[in-house]
Amino acid sequence: GTEPSGTGDGAVPVVDISAVGAGATPVQQAMRLARRHGPVFRRRLNGLDTLFVSSLDLVTELADEERFSKYVGPALENVREFAADGLFTAYNDEPNWGKAHDILMPAFALGSMRAYHPAMLRVARRLISSWDARLGRGTPVDVPEDMTRMTLDTIGLAGFGYDFESFAREEPHPFVGAMVRCLDWSMNALGRAPGGDHSAEDEAFRSDAAFLATVVDDVISARTAAGDDRTDDLLGLMLGAPHPVDGTTLDLANIRNQVITFLIAGHETTSGALSFALHHLLKDPVALRLAQRETDELWGDTEDPEPTFEDVGRLRWTRQVLSEALRLWPTAAAFSRQAREDTFLGGRYPLRAGQGVTVLTPLLHRDAVWGDNPELFDPTRFAPEAEAARSPHAYKPFGTGERACIGRQFALHEATMLLGLLVHRYRFIDHTGYRLRIKETLTLKPDGFTLTLARRTPAD
Ligand code: HEM
Repeated sequence: GTEPSGTGDGAVPVVDISAVGAGATPVQQAMRLARRHGPVFRRRLNGLDTLFVSSLDLVTELADEERFSKYVGPALENVREFAADGLFTAYNDEPNWGKAHDILMPAFALGSMRAYHPAMLRVARRLISSWDARLGRGTPVDVPEDMTRMTLDTIGLAGFGYDFESFAREEPHPFVGAMVRCLDWSMNALGRAPGGDHSAEDEAFRSDAAFLATVVDDVISARTAAGDDRTDDLLGLMLGAPHPVDGTTLDLANIRNQVITFLIAGHETTSGALSFALHHLLKDPVALRLAQRETDELWGDTEDPEPTFEDVGRLRWTRQVLSEALRLWPTAAAFSRQAREDTFLGGRYPLRAGQGVTVLTPLLHRDAVWGDNPELFDPTRFAPEAEAARSPHAYKPFGTGERACIGRQFALHEATMLLGLLVHRYRFIDHTGYRLRIKETLTLKPDGFTLTLARRTPAD
């Protein structure tokens, strides 16, 4: 919490993109701008200014909770249109943030992951049966689409005891389409050019948001109608658990906002992370071989392994693969901070109290601290010794401070187990010679990424 004395002479490059707009890939555009203009620049879009920062020294300052806190900026204000005061989009001083945080924290302690493990495994097996069937027919699998089926069913079952049955459907559950359109709307509504008529988009958005709300009501009533008062999952805690200090419970409006928040935050980013990890394994035979070897050591040539909770902790390399995939492509690619008091960032750049700063995570993850070949996929960067030697602020895929991701352990347990099972079972065939293209819908995913599969034989 030391306040650097500032001179305020830091001139920040201003890049006006109003003429071209932010396009369909604003994160990748911001990455190009940062490469050209450096680790601090101001992007101007039709009167909306965003200050982007991406170097380790400045992000280290922004992570100081005494000087900075989470900023609910224009993008999250738009998400608030459908998630309101849910945990992700709540203002720091909104009482429901602290209340829900305290009530839900126990659901994310390590012990709770043990409780979710069986549901996670059950859904992982659904994906595997579906892939086995494709393999039998020789048809490709759509990786991001199936990862999304898997992660949506997992958060539904583990968090809410609700089954989206995504693998029993030809098309993804309609929740997914409506959610993606809502996220897209909140991204595209930023910095709209003056004078445009957006009433049709806005109306479509309202109807999608209303649909999401009906799914949420279904999830809640499935539980309450059954008179089920379990408190060992997210929904049970929301409906029943009193606040540890003041004894009150969450009100129904807030519970609905939390359910929608968790259904979205709980699957969209994990799905992208798994898809990027598979992409990188496909292109890196050595990393893949090491992952296979690790799973072979645990499960031998068992046809249908029965991973235990502890097994997942032993998949160290597989976990490093995921960490490295999230370094190159942090699927929630930016988060914002605001100054608590007037200050100078880096002793040079003046910031007023309440002013927002956006961390461009993919470029932080390519800072010089990562060495001279930051584009190289290299999971050894996450070996324990390498991690211990590096600043914790060099790596922020889950955000920072008390508003960092509550679901981190959930995501990593689910994703590590699935990735382990997949590399143990399949040979991945790059039938299109896939070249990475990234689709943005507020989060990042590989676009058009398909694979064909074969079963591994003992010789593989
Ligand atoms: C917050 C990333 C998985 C629930 C965040 C934030 C990031 C993030 C960057 C901070 C946002 C900010 O500062 O504005 C990720 C990534 C994930 C993931 C990359 C997967 C690889 C999950 C899962 C859940 C979840 C599985 C739930 C089961 C949340 C919630 C918050 C949050 C509720 C808001 C926390 C608060 O402000 O109190 N996540 N997340 N996330 N995440 Fe995640």
